[in-house]
Amino acid sequence: MQSRKSSLLLEKDRKNIEKLYLDLVPKVPESKQTCKLTLPDGQTFELPILNGSDGPPMIDSRNLYAKTGYFTYDPGYTCTGSCVSQITFIDGEKGELLYRGYKIQELAKTCDFVDICYLLLYGELPSMQDKKNFDTTMKNEMLVHDGLISFYKGFQTGAHPMAIMVGVVGALSAFMNEDLDVKEAVQREISAIRLVAKMPMIAAIAYRTARGLPIVYPKKKLSYTANFLYMMFADPMDPDYAVDEYLAGVLDKILVLHADHEQNASTATVRIAGSSIANPFACVAAGIASLWGPAHGGANEAVLDMLDEIGDSSNIPECIKKAKDKNSGFRLMGFGHRVYKNYDPRAEIIRDVCHEVLDYLDMKNDPYFKIGLELEKVALSDPYFIERKLYPNVDFYSGIVLNAIGIPKSMFTVIFALARSIGWITQWREMISEPVLRIGRPRQLYVGHINRNVNDRTERENSYDTLSVLTDPPKKGFSIYKP
Ligand code: CMC
Repeated sequence: MQSRKSSLLLEKDRKNIEKLYLDLVPKVPESKQTCKLTLPDGQTFELPILNGSDGPPMIDSRNLYAKTGYFTYDPGYTCTGSCVSQITFIDGEKGELLYRGYKIQELAKTCDFVDICYLLLYGELPSMQDKKNFDTTMKNEMLVHDGLISFYKGFQTGAHPMAIMVGVVGALSAFMNEDLDVKEAVQREISAIRLVAKMPMIAAIAYRTARGLPIVYPKKKLSYTANFLYMMFADPMDPDYAVDEYLAGVLDKILVLHADHEQNASTATVRIAGSSIANPFACVAAGIASLWGPAHGGANEAVLDMLDEIGDSSNIPECIKKAKDKNSGFRLMGFGHRVYKNYDPRAEIIRDVCHEVLDYLDMKNDPYFKIGLELEKVALSDPYFIERKLYPNVDFYSGIVLNAIGIPKSMFTVIFALARSIGWITQWREMISEPVLRIGRPRQLYVGHINRNVNDRTERENSYDTLSVLTDPPKKGFSIYKP
């Protein structure tokens, strides 16, 4: 395929953009095989089998209910495909991750985050000129509306930056209401670029608001990632403040590794929100909310909390014991993955980066890294983790690296969100460009009451006493409820 010209969003490019998006809409492959389903009454039905370019084949159950009257049951979607896609592919058994067909190891070695944004959005790696144009387009969209900045004033010092992100990214749509017709390819392109370009400023202000620090604006001469670090850390009293280029490169690699990860919880959330034709900024805000949880992107923060709790290598056996005990409610954070049943390739790359960064920063004795390595060694030789194929995932080492370069813990998941914004918006755009879009609407197996009669209120049994009483009874004298 020819390298595509980056769009500068001019009217003359409209046709190019529309054509490009037609190429980027994945097609459902033709079925060449079927399988038979036998129902309890002995009736049999043929179901088509779909084969992608890689990965397990899928039984096409789209017409199952219409043909048989049955639904399928799969909470957590452990074996249910929700879309066809040509963006990202994971082979969990091999521990392989591809963006648009390229191995993550190669991309992490040779590309920066802006290359990856281009690759995900346009399907090809950029030429030198493509990159220059795209970089300019992104920089022109980097500033956020001044009115949006006033939103931050409503958040208290000490607010979690992820709480701010959920609100502010959703609010972006209030400032872009002129270019939000999602049925128009050009407007989808504008939204995608604006979201990704503005994320560094949105994230950096979230941090500075939480700290009560004044806002810093981006600089045109800085790269995407250096700008983010500059806006986070620039000292208002030091006009010569400069971002450490090596550390900006390290953070850039982390962004590359987090850019997309096919149909994970937050991406599936963005897609399902978008399936109702909601605007993309609101959909991404939903994705940020989903990412925040410790089972997903919040794990990088939880890993450091866990390492803090362990405190010393001598406490590792106790931690492993707790992680294996189902009644403890505790899991080894940064371990395990729904898809990878082998080492997460991103974790392998970050572990190497971790060695280099700690060397660069003269932090070879970093207690987090030492305990982390030891914990990994102990877990990977324990039958519980071996049998369940539980390996360190990307979040195990990313928190240690981010902490070493000086990023506060509460910003770890924000950085994940910043990186994943390109994945979310590309996945959203792929979905919304499909010729037939069906609203995401799962089924359920209802196990509640049926056909109850409504009694008269006087005949009902009291049940309120068993419910939670949320507020203390008012004390004597004046009192006011805390909002
Ligand atoms: N520590 C201890 N046991 C675990 C862990 C863990 N971290 N992860 C899974 N298990 C056990 C689990 O108890 C179950 O055991 P059994 O078969 O005896 O019931 C078995 O392994 C399979 O677990 P599962 O819950 O069916 O796996 P899942 O695919 O539903 O969950 C996961 C995947 C990532 C949510 C889970 O491994 C986990 O909670 N890990 C810790 C949180 C974490 O690191 N999350 C970041 C994921 S990677 C970054 C991202 O993409 O967001």
